[in-house]
Amino acid sequence: MMTRKIVAALAALAFALPTAAYAEDAPLEQQLVDAMNKVFGVHAGFRANHAKGVVVEGRFKPSAEAATLSKASLFSGGEIPVTVRFSDSTGVPNLPDGSDDANPHGMAVKFRLADGSDMDIVINSLKFFPVSTAAELRDLFLAIADSGPNAAKPTKLEQFIGSHPSVPAALGTIATPDSFANEGYFGVNAFVLVNKQGARQAIRYQMLPEKVVHLDKAEAAKRAPDYLMAELPARLKQGPVTFRFMAQLAAAGDDTKDPAKPWPDDRKLVELGVVTIDKAVADSDAAQKKLLFLPSQLPDGIEASDDPMIDIRSAAYAISFSRRNP
Ligand code: HEM
Repeated sequence: MMTRKIVAALAALAFALPTAAYAEDAPLEQQLVDAMNKVFGVHAGFRANHAKGVVVEGRFKPSAEAATLSKASLFSGGEIPVTVRFSDSTGVPNLPDGSDDANPHGMAVKFRLADGSDMDIVINSLKFFPVSTAAELRDLFLAIADSGPNAAKPTKLEQFIGSHPSVPAALGTIATPDSFANEGYFGVNAFVLVNKQGARQAIRYQMLPEKVVHLDKAEAAKRAPDYLMAELPARLKQGPVTFRFMAQLAAAGDDTKDPAKPWPDDRKLVELGVVTIDKAVADSDAAQKKLLFLPSQLPDGIEASDDPMIDIRSAAYAISFSRRNP
């Protein structure tokens, strides 16, 4: 049932839009951006995925415990500024915020480090990823693009979902929030914290709100098309919004390579600090065009894990950035 609904929603999205060129011999990161363009259409000036978003500003205050896990300057000093972009999924810039396809919602955080460099995290509301590798994500997008209303049954997408049970399982972890402030965001890919003694700890990020509030589908469909983008700036005029920045610690034997495999719920969660969002930026549309968040932009003391998806993500984000800022 769940699977059928997902197939129908994704296939309808693909065929409402013009398609784009796709080159099979291009590097994987380019194939990924092309496959996204094929499903979502090309929209000049917008991101290939998570096209619709809102930019806000605030600060990060590290916890004392964070410095025991990582020597990164992020955790050793006082409060630092952050720029945060919340987003809807898909490359469709005018998608209604209450649409099912707007899930998973995204949160990208740029930590402005004292030495003038940045560290980025790019996370979303899926508790784990639908597929294990970047190549599988490309194949999923290509299957969606090939599964329009006239496609022979079972469609490519039905076949892909049938052979990848992690797709419906992951999509089953998301729901539409009533506010970007009332959603939890998960890093999915593993990173490694390195402390002053050289001890290494694999972790996955979480950003936990004060509370999670999800809407049922009928309620979400009734909301104004831009309700999420409008609500956050309005809420911030009343007061700040906070998130606890957490690290879920891997235990020996936990898979750090496969973002589709969640770690057990009883793994220790350590609070790395608190992100406080104070205000919307003056011109969010102009700000988001210029912003580029890269999952592998990391300071000394935080490293990518052995998950190859992290570097491919950064390469794909850079391609998308260069296309939206020609
Ligand atoms: C191979 C896997 C992935 C690929 C190829 C990919 C591709 C992309 C691309 C091309 C963009 C647009 C970037 C830009 O123009 O700046 C994007 C944005 C984004 N992606 Fe991914 N993505 C992948 C995995 C993930 C995962 C695992 C997450 C979350 C856990 C995620 C969350 C996001 C978010 C939140 C944004 C919006 C960033 C912003 O606000 O600038 N993506 N992705």
